[in-house]
Amino acid sequence: MSPERADTQSAGLIRPALVRAGDIPATPTPPLNSPLMPFPATRMRRLRRTETLRGLVRETNLGPEHLIQPLFVVAGEGVREEVESMPGIERFSISELVAEATEIAAVGVKAVLLFGIPAEKDESGTGAYDDEGVVQMAVHALKEAHPDLTVITDVCLCEYTSHGHCGFVRDGEVDNDITVELLAKTAISHAEAGADAVAPSDMMDGRIGTIRHQLDEEGHPNTPIVAYSAKYASAFYGPFRDAAESTPEFGDRRGYQMDPANAAEAVREAQLDLEEGADMLMVKPATPYLDVVRRVKAETEAPVAAYHVSGEYSMLKAAAANGWIDEPAAVRETLTSIRRAGADAIVTYYAKEAAGWLR
Ligand code: PBG
Repeated sequence: MSPERADTQSAGLIRPALVRAGDIPATPTPPLNSPLMPFPATRMRRLRRTETLRGLVRETNLGPEHLIQPLFVVAGEGVREEVESMPGIERFSISELVAEATEIAAVGVKAVLLFGIPAEKDESGTGAYDDEGVVQMAVHALKEAHPDLTVITDVCLCEYTSHGHCGFVRDGEVDNDITVELLAKTAISHAEAGADAVAPSDMMDGRIGTIRHQLDEEGHPNTPIVAYSAKYASAFYGPFRDAAESTPEFGDRRGYQMDPANAAEAVREAQLDLEEGADMLMVKPATPYLDVVRRVKAETEAPVAAYHVSGEYSMLKAAAANGWIDEPAAVRETLTSIRRAGADAIVTYYAKEAAGWLR
């Protein structure tokens, strides 16, 4: 074997000249008198030959610093309960939550999004704005143990209402303006507990402006608002509702969450939230709405997060459990697609696990 041949083989390359079979030309030439063609001068494969070359021209990066881990906190002591429809995801009582946060921080994830499941629910969701509520106590504990971990809190009533709707129900409908007042109370109690940012996920009109105004009045002008601006009425929230026990008792959420058929409306929602003082916008779910992530990013140029929701997580977990997909590769590809669409940050139940794979 000639030295030249050994070299090309060890680099994993196949030289056309060496594999030429019979009289098949190695370099196709355009037929005489044909218009000028970019090929063979242009060969896109040249920069795909090695991992180093691919790395030099990679357009999208993905690291643990882009990921936000959602966490469920429950009342009680010593509780760790697996969510059946979300393999690998547990609901923690406060001290277990703090231990979990240690593991999350250790793999390089710098932010968590906190959801509370109170011991008791009622008509007006009072647990949401109780200064000693489950989220408020968890924020205190997390910030004390991990001052560097960014703690974002979900601001919504659905985990706290006995009927499971995201707001106060009057005459069989979620009343927008009463709900907004309760949400603002909730956001303030989270900020007082030490939350680094609040994330309203209710889809009421005008809530960003009211929350911003009241946070400022109450001495929290530096607490950012991550607005779930384009939150769709999605079938992919099913597993989350098991985890949060927040399935609506009657009706559904289509009277306040967005119609999956709309995208221009998402841009309007985003623009309104920015005008009302949102610091970051969120699109949710993520993968079925990558076009919306792209449009919201392009048309607002504001920081955008995308929420890779429970159903998106559980589908990957189920396929992986059956051996149908290569889980780390499929998860990396999924999260990369969300970043490529334009998301700055990704909320994903895979944050801790994927951060381990990304290192
Ligand atoms: C509402 C809320 C929901 C999710 C996040 N915040 C559920 C809903 O609207 O029913 C869903 C998240 C997920 O599916 O992962 N507070």
